[in-house]
Amino acid sequence: MPHAVPPVAADRLPALLAAMPKAELHIHIEGSLEPELIFSLAQRNGVAIPYASVEDLRQAYAFTNLQSFLDIYYAGASVLLKEQDFHDMAWAYLLRAKADNVLRTELFFDPQTHTARGVAMETVVKGLHRACRDARTQLGVDAELILCFLRHLSEAEAFETLEQALPNRDKIIRVGLHTSEQGHTPEKFARVFARCRQLGLHLVAHAGEEGPPAYVWAALDVLKVERIDHGVQSVKDPALMKRLAQDRIPLTVCPLSNLKLCVFPRLADHNLRQLLDAGLVATVNSDDPAYFGGYLNENFLQTFAATGMDAGHAYRLAANSFEGSFAEATAKKRYLEQLDAVFAAHS
Ligand code: ADE
Ligand code: ZN
Repeated sequence: MPHAVPPVAADRLPALLAAMPKAELHIHIEGSLEPELIFSLAQRNGVAIPYASVEDLRQAYAFTNLQSFLDIYYAGASVLLKEQDFHDMAWAYLLRAKADNVLRTELFFDPQTHTARGVAMETVVKGLHRACRDARTQLGVDAELILCFLRHLSEAEAFETLEQALPNRDKIIRVGLHTSEQGHTPEKFARVFARCRQLGLHLVAHAGEEGPPAYVWAALDVLKVERIDHGVQSVKDPALMKRLAQDRIPLTVCPLSNLKLCVFPRLADHNLRQLLDAGLVATVNSDDPAYFGGYLNENFLQTFAATGMDAGHAYRLAANSFEGSFAEATAKKRYLEQLDAVFAAHS
């Protein structure tokens, strides 16, 4: 890693942001379903959807908070039935990731959204895993899967989901927790996460997106996660900020998501720069790009334009994304070398 990032002219920063190699650590693959693909899968599978056209569906993407988004997100996912559907959804995202110079991506998927509709766990995992395998060989993108439990459902349902996934555990080496945060404390899943830890699975969880710093503490100390998804509310608690910085706990921050779900009124008010300047391992991610107006590079470009961050911040965000990933040490070293080469070429 360079000791100091060489100066980069302000007008060259957007090109550098787009070109720099990066990892994406917070992407819900069901949130990458574009309206066009929803309509084509609905037709292929004979599923009725309550929107007249692609435009009509896109018009519905005006959210006031997390729950208002989740209601539409589940409706979109209802068109996914067959292994090929899961493959095609993931492949479309992986092509976008490649175009954004993503070297590694760790994809969340929601089995409970699908098993509740009668789709077998195996169908979901096989389709997604095949796309990840193809990404490695055909695109040179390292892609892996993170099984996410839905936090508005019960502990018993999470345990049942874990059991269903275990025959395919070689394809899923980590688990996460997401959906409605308020009122669903991390403690609800303490025993499920303890079991996952015993099984040797890596652990992450959404916390501190809309919920209070107490949820981030509980994710760390009760669930014992290695990474916090979002975590932007942590700035309200100086002791928590110190803990996150000292333990180098990565935060997978999603600026355009936070804007669209009204966590911040304007992108200029986003606290990403504050998190970075406090020494946290913050990263940039797209969350649900089909719904929030942009894939990974769009998140970088819009956030830098709004907050005035510079090339030093860009370098740290990209380096943090590799450090915070679950890649092997040798791969992390290779990614960093590629990052340094691109910075050298742009300075
Ligand atoms: N599931 C998909 N996107 C999410 C988000 N931003 N927060 C919580 N759960 C989600
Ligand atoms: Zn998320």
